[in-house]
Amino acid sequence: MTAKLVVKNLIRNFGEKKVLTGIDLQVNQGESVVILGGSGSGKSVLIKIIATLIAPTSGSIKVDGQEVSNIRPKDRDKLMEKFGFLFQGGALFDSLSVWENVAFRLLYHKKMSKKDAREIALQKLKAVGLNEKTADLFPSELSGGMQKRASLARAIAANPEIIFFDEPTTGLDPIMADVINDLIIANSKKLGATTITITHDMHSARKIADKVAMLYDGKIIWFGDVKDMYSSGNTYLDQFIHGRAEGPINFLIS
Ligand SMILES: Nc1ncnc2c1ncn2[C@@H]1O[C@H](COP(=O)(O)OP(=O)(O)O)[C@@H](O)[C@H]1O
Ligand SMILES: [Mg+2]
Repeated sequence: MTAKLVVKNLIRNFGEKKVLTGIDLQVNQGESVVILGGSGSGKSVLIKIIATLIAPTSGSIKVDGQEVSNIRPKDRDKLMEKFGFLFQGGALFDSLSVWENVAFRLLYHKKMSKKDAREIALQKLKAVGLNEKTADLFPSELSGGMQKRASLARAIAANPEIIFFDEPTTGLDPIMADVINDLIIANSKKLGATTITITHDMHSARKIADKVAMLYDGKIIWFGDVKDMYSSGNTYLDQFIHGRAEGPINFLIS
């Protein structure tokens, strides 16, 4: 097993607020890790730090053995080529057409010609079940499910090695959510990518995950194979996956 990503004692504070208090995580090449945790527990902050979009307060992050927690701007562009990101809520650019959203990185970072970038965008849109007519629409003209598909196409556009999915199925009906799950699995497999997915949706977690990490109180309090998730004996994880109000997790405090 080759470690694609190794996180050690990662800490992130926002002022007085301690959000991540010592994260250790290893993700192997080609693996799919799902991160579970309550709202405000720091899941989005964690994956943004790993993707070098937010700086950590302290700690180590290695991608393919390279320390990236304090990466210099000139090395960061190259590193970013390894990453694909599906942001919470999709976060498509309103003023760009669907294909320009998908091709954003290719157009503005890789300086690809419009013709070539559009060609790739159309391929990626096809890979997520969107046709050429959709390419020239604006995000506001798409349904929620189509927006998630377009966001997924954007995340995979530059053939990333590591893809981050931040709540890819939130807000979708169960059938559309399952379509997105299948597209995530199929496209990640096609790229041979390593993936980290944040979800509240236990059906998605069971379907997508090889490994599961449960975030609570700034730490990963359980990490293991998805098959062991329901027999972990961890009372926090049990409360979360069964969605029980009663248990060690106090949902009123975030
Ligand atoms: N830029 C920021 N400045 C201050 N606090 C932040 C910032 N980003 C996130 N936080 C705080 O960090 C905590 C974790 O946020 P987040 O990672 O978005 O949670 P979630 O697990 O729901 O994704 C929240 O309490 C949030 O308010
Ligand atoms: Mg979040």
